Amino acid sequence: MKTGNKEMQCPASAPVKVLFVCLGNICRSPMAEMVFRHMVNEKNLSDFFEINSAGTEEYNALTRAGIHPGTKAVLRQNHIPFTEHIARYFTKKDYEYYDYILVMDHQNKRDVLNIIGKEVSDKVFCLMDFTSHPGDVQDPWYTGRFEETYHAVFEGCSGFLKWLNQHADLKL
Ligand code: 4NP
Repeated sequence: MKTGNKEMQCPASAPVKVLFVCLGNICRSPMAEMVFRHMVNEKNLSDFFEINSAGTEEYNALTRAGIHPGTKAVLRQNHIPFTEHIARYFTKKDYEYYDYILVMDHQNKRDVLNIIGKEVSDKVFCLMDFTSHPGDVQDPWYTGRFEETYHAVFEGCSGFLKWLNQHADLKL
C-alpha cells in the first residue's frame, strides 16, 4: 500500500506497538484505541499488539481528563468494551517507542512532526490512509457527530489490521 508516493514500512517483530494520536486524546484516539483493541482481541491476536493513545495538546493531560462521554456512549452502542483512559500528552519518547503512530487528521500529523522535530517520518500515518478514501477523521468535539466518527475509526482500524496482515512479517 502506498500513501502518496511512499511505500509503507513494516516492523519485523511482535508485539507491534501502535499509538493512536489526536488533538485532545479524549474523543477520537481513545475511541480508536478501544476499537482496535477489541478487533485484535476478537481475533485472538492480543499477544501480538501493544496499543495506546495520546494527544498533541497538553491541556487534557494536565487536567487528567477522562474519555469524552460521547465517545463512551458510542462505544457502548456498538458493543465495544472499554476501560477508562486518562488523557496523555504525545512525547518524543512515544515516537521512539511505538512502531506505528496513527493520527486522526493531517493537522495531528503536522503537530506530531513538530513535537518530534522532523519534517517527515516513515512511521506516522493518517488512519484513513488504510481505507479506500484517505482523509481526516472528523473531530466530534467540534461536529458532535460521534457515530459518524465511530464508523470512520472502525473502517480505518479494520483497514490497518488487514494491511498489517498482508504486509507485516507476522503470522496474524
Ligand atoms: P479529540 O477532540 O482530539 O478527538 O480528542 C478534542 C478534544 C478536546 C479538545 C479538542 C479536540 N479541546 O480543545 O479540549
